[in-house]
Amino acid sequence: MTRQDRTNNVADLRLMARRRLPRPIFDYIDGGADDEISLRRNATAFADYELVPDVLNDVSEIRTETKIFGQASRWPLMLSPTGLTRMFHGHAELAVARAAARHGLLYSLSTMGTTRLEDLAQAFAGPKVFQIYIFKDRGLTAEFVARCRDAGFHGLALTVDTPVAGNRERDRVSGLSLPPKLTLRSLLSFALHPSWSIPALTGSKFDLANVSHKIDALSSGPMSLFDYIGGQFDRSVGWREVEWLAREWNGPLAIKGVMTPEDARRSITSGATGVMISNHGGRQLDGAPAPIDQIEAVRNAIGDAPDLICDGGIRRGSDVVKALALGATACSIGRPYLYGLAAGGEQGVDRLLTLLRQEFERTLTLAGINDIASLAPRHIRHRTGRP
Ligand code: FNR
Repeated sequence: MTRQDRTNNVADLRLMARRRLPRPIFDYIDGGADDEISLRRNATAFADYELVPDVLNDVSEIRTETKIFGQASRWPLMLSPTGLTRMFHGHAELAVARAAARHGLLYSLSTMGTTRLEDLAQAFAGPKVFQIYIFKDRGLTAEFVARCRDAGFHGLALTVDTPVAGNRERDRVSGLSLPPKLTLRSLLSFALHPSWSIPALTGSKFDLANVSHKIDALSSGPMSLFDYIGGQFDRSVGWREVEWLAREWNGPLAIKGVMTPEDARRSITSGATGVMISNHGGRQLDGAPAPIDQIEAVRNAIGDAPDLICDGGIRRGSDVVKALALGATACSIGRPYLYGLAAGGEQGVDRLLTLLRQEFERTLTLAGINDIASLAPRHIRHRTGRP
């Protein structure tokens, strides 16, 4: 029995991750923008919803299979894209993707990932989505589309909530640099956290694998990743670019970062097949609404067919049940699996997914629901009336 096997929930894995990681790295995962209001609200908003159970329904078997991005999923959960994953564990994205595949779930690779998309696709046969940006350099975005098609990715998630980087004050206080620099302070951190992997610290293997060729090509001298990324965000991006990307890709495409019914409708009329309601886990616009509170209005606006993924704040399997009852197709998680990864690598992610799955199934059983398709608005109630 490993140490992470003794964890009971996401909160336990978070504490284990905090003990294992140097503080600046933990804060990079755990933190949010400005006063972290959205970060907190994303999770606490779930507590404002009550589940209203049916009783005396045969719950000896429960159907949880669904489709997300057109791909089969064992239950309605997927793994959100997160950048810089090698900083948290030496096995990085591959460890997460392998655990996701074992659980029959979709994995999304970030543009800012530390594994080349072709390497991930080769090592991982499961359903996979690539998270893309419309960069100033449109050629780079077009290149990603072609590479994803060649590598066999099943869908794209276009992140639209990042015209500039959010204001993460924890990172400034901690002096986090990317890649992490070898200084006296970071060496000390490493000595204090021997289970954290050295490649992350030295930067020797630390690489934004999918865009590094551009960094090399663009910079004559040393250029920080922050400089490059900051320089590539394009504040002029609009719906025309979404239409262009939808045509170019011509496959399952979700717009990640949509909050309102109007933008959700526009996403679909612009050619997307779904939306991810998201405020980037509270890392971008602080004060943005909690995704769970936007589901009903967005579902009403786009109708039944498009994927509607609630991304952010999920910390219990019961949260997924609530999102589905409000009209979501599925939920997506970021920090929870990163806590698992930092706590115990692939096994840590495995533990996290097992715990959430057990909570999800137990909640459905207790609520008298034997098929996720039968979850309906009558199973959920907002404590204070509608948000
Ligand atoms: C993210 N997220 C993110 N999103 C994205 O579109 N591209 C990215 O590169 C990243 N990188 C990233 C790094 C880290 C460390 C975190 C925690 C998050 C946001 C992510 O996809 C997702 O929207 C949130 O994590 C969801 O909120 P929870 O599950 O963390 O509460």
